Amino acid sequence: MEVKNRVMMPAMGIGFLDEEGCVTSQLIEFYSERARSEPGMIMPSAIPVQPLGANNPNMLRMVPIWDDKTLHGLERMVAAVHTYDVRFGAQLLHMGIRSGQEETVGPSAVLAADGVYGNLPREMSRNEIKECIKAFGAAAERCVKAGFDFVEIHAAHGYLISQFLTPYYNRRTDEYGGDFNNRIRFLLEIIHEVRVRLGSEIPIGVRINGDDFIQEGRWTAAELCRLFGFEEPTDFPQEGGWTLAQLCRLAPILEEASVDYLNITTGVSYDHTVPPIYREQGEFAYISEEVKKHVSIPVVIRGRIKNPIMADDIVGKGKADMVAMGRAQIADAEMVEKARKGDIAEIRLCIADCRGCSEGILRYGEISCAVNPRVGREYLIKDVEGGKIAAAKRVLVAGAGCAGLEAARRAALAGHRVILCESRGWIGGQLRLAAMIPKRQEMGDIMPWYERQLNKLGVEIRLNTLVDDDLLSQIGPDVLVIATGSLPEVPLGYIKGLENIKDIELVMADELLEEQLLTGDNVLVVGGDQIGLQVADYLSERHKKVYVAERGAQFAEKMAFQDRAYLVGRIIDKAVERRARVNSVEILANDEVWMVYDDARERLPRVDTIVLASDRRPNIFLAEVAEKRGIETQIIGDASGVTGEDQGTVLSAVASGYEVGRQV
Ligand SMILES: Cc1cc2nc3c(=O)[nH]c(=O)nc-3n(C[C@H](O)[C@H](O)[C@H](O)COP(=O)(O)OP(=O)(O)OC[C@H]3O[C@@H](n4cnc5c(N)ncnc54)[C@H](O)[C@@H]3O)c2cc1C
Ligand SMILES: Cc1cc2nc3c(=O)[nH]c(=O)nc-3n(C[C@H](O)[C@H](O)[C@H](O)COP(=O)(O)O)c2cc1C
Ligand code: SF4
Repeated sequence: MEVKNRVMMPAMGIGFLDEEGCVTSQLIEFYSERARSEPGMIMPSAIPVQPLGANNPNMLRMVPIWDDKTLHGLERMVAAVHTYDVRFGAQLLHMGIRSGQEETVGPSAVLAADGVYGNLPREMSRNEIKECIKAFGAAAERCVKAGFDFVEIHAAHGYLISQFLTPYYNRRTDEYGGDFNNRIRFLLEIIHEVRVRLGSEIPIGVRINGDDFIQEGRWTAAELCRLFGFEEPTDFPQEGGWTLAQLCRLAPILEEASVDYLNITTGVSYDHTVPPIYREQGEFAYISEEVKKHVSIPVVIRGRIKNPIMADDIVGKGKADMVAMGRAQIADAEMVEKARKGDIAEIRLCIADCRGCSEGILRYGEISCAVNPRVGREYLIKDVEGGKIAAAKRVLVAGAGCAGLEAARRAALAGHRVILCESRGWIGGQLRLAAMIPKRQEMGDIMPWYERQLNKLGVEIRLNTLVDDDLLSQIGPDVLVIATGSLPEVPLGYIKGLENIKDIELVMADELLEEQLLTGDNVLVVGGDQIGLQVADYLSERHKKVYVAERGAQFAEKMAFQDRAYLVGRIIDKAVERRARVNSVEILANDEVWMVYDDARERLPRVDTIVLASDRRPNIFLAEVAEKRGIETQIIGDASGVTGEDQGTVLSAVASGYEVGRQV
């Protein structure tokens, strides 16, 4: 099989299936839009081969390939993608103990290394193993019947095949467990079965871990267990994982077994399978580089490769034959086409926050994207980049945070005359502050893109320009979009005794970052959601002793779980002291600072500075002014609210900017 280029869109479970697991127009249009850009290979979400191998449908729907009713939808999707020069493959998997179903099976009755999937699995009988192998063959045959060009066997990420490979999971004493040759037997028999069923013409790939990093799941585990209501594990295996050395031994055996390519990935828990912003971009290329020394078939690598320049470098230096770019193609469906044309600056870069994609699956069973609000709506909104409307309006956008930037872009795309006013001397709003947090600079990667798009579209950007009554009368807009964000405020009922303060300084979180204020050595951050916890990380990086007081039971709840898990991990490692379920913070005479809980009180040793990072209020004074003038007004982003589950995030700010910009 020849592929057009060395970019793959790897399998990603994204939802968009109907209740019976059949393909919808929504899914077809999502992939068609990515196929139009013509990456060499695309795979849709993994397809389970047996009912027990599928995800709990309450978490994520999957295609029950064993059921004939699914074939028509798959055929439609394949036909749509084949309009373009793309090889479209089917990834086959059995989720084993990670299915989240009531009953689970595995090579042995061993709990998930990260403790996330609570039920003790049943050890598979040899009969069940044989049936499962046949099921892979049957599923492969059906996929090829539906028109897929190739199949990929998912032997990674702690799912069933990966569990057979991994000593920690596989404690069997028959021919499928024990030594290396026995542990790889299940995979080899699956490959054999699939090859016999498909013949020699259809390529077969294997997705496999370069390392389980089994001992690294602890931060994610705690967060995920809380999310799903599982008991938090106290013990984490330190050994028994599948390693690069074992893969290098297996790789030539797979080549010999007629495997056509290896798709390398890592991890058995979410902190690795979908690496967040805290992991280095492209950091796993050393694995494919090593594996390539042992095989002559193509080797693919993935992991935060979001920029074609990095992709080109990896391939150019011979570290991999192909790169799998997943979230990069969620964030920008045209990424490959833009790279092909050399329009690198045109690419809307993924900001690696995982808030729309992997978190979307956990919270809502389907993805969206923080920077690309079209995701999942490709079937509804056909105009990829805006047909011009007949009656152009004069649109004034107040505020150049991400909500205002997106609204201005989308409205200008539709042909409106847009003026974007920003009271500060720079664009980005809070996003610029978010990008100042350690290891989170990429949050700001989207800003140059917006700047470029707005300039291209002829949006008039006025910096250092406050929108007020005078400006409204001067400009006389047909429509005013209020994108003035939110402001931190003093949580008056929560923090008590402010009048007692003698030497403690009080600082607002935004002010601390924006003005790069200095603080004392001992700092209390009030508020432990995303802003508070990130600010705590920022301060501890500056060698401050930091305490965080949070009203709720959890920290950083607005963030995607694996993002949050890494942040919490950093906080723990740096000995930041977190206090949850704090009912109020009391300041007594002599600057004594007390945490008040349901049935206890605790005095903090010493506090020099208090940073307020809990409450925010929408900044909407303009709404009243505009109403008096009778101007049509839309309110977006943080200005429209910050307390809802998704509010107060880049995801919701950009989404509302898009919606309003499109409908002005
Ligand atoms: C430290 C920090 C970390 C964060 N981390 C994350 C994270 O990890 N993930 C996440 O999803 N979200 C995060 N957030 C929240 C996220 O950044 C915001 O929800 C989002 O950026 C809000 O965008 P917005 O455009 O609605 O408002 P803002 O970004 O607040 O932008 C509003 C803009 O309007 C301007 N303005 C105000 N009044 C006027 C006026 N009258 N005329 C002209 N201009 C005006 C302001 O100067 C500002 O630039 C973080 C926020 C902070 C502060
Ligand atoms: C929402 C989502 C769903 C995923 N589902 C799968 C899957 O079904 N099969 C798989 O092998 N990997 C899956 N992955 C992992 C991706 O294939 C990819 O390896 C990972 O996102 C890292 O690559 P990236 O940094 O280029 O996104 C998923 C990732 C995401 C974000
Ligand atoms: S939601 Fe965030 S991490 Fe996921 S693709 Fe979009 S920008 Fe990237």
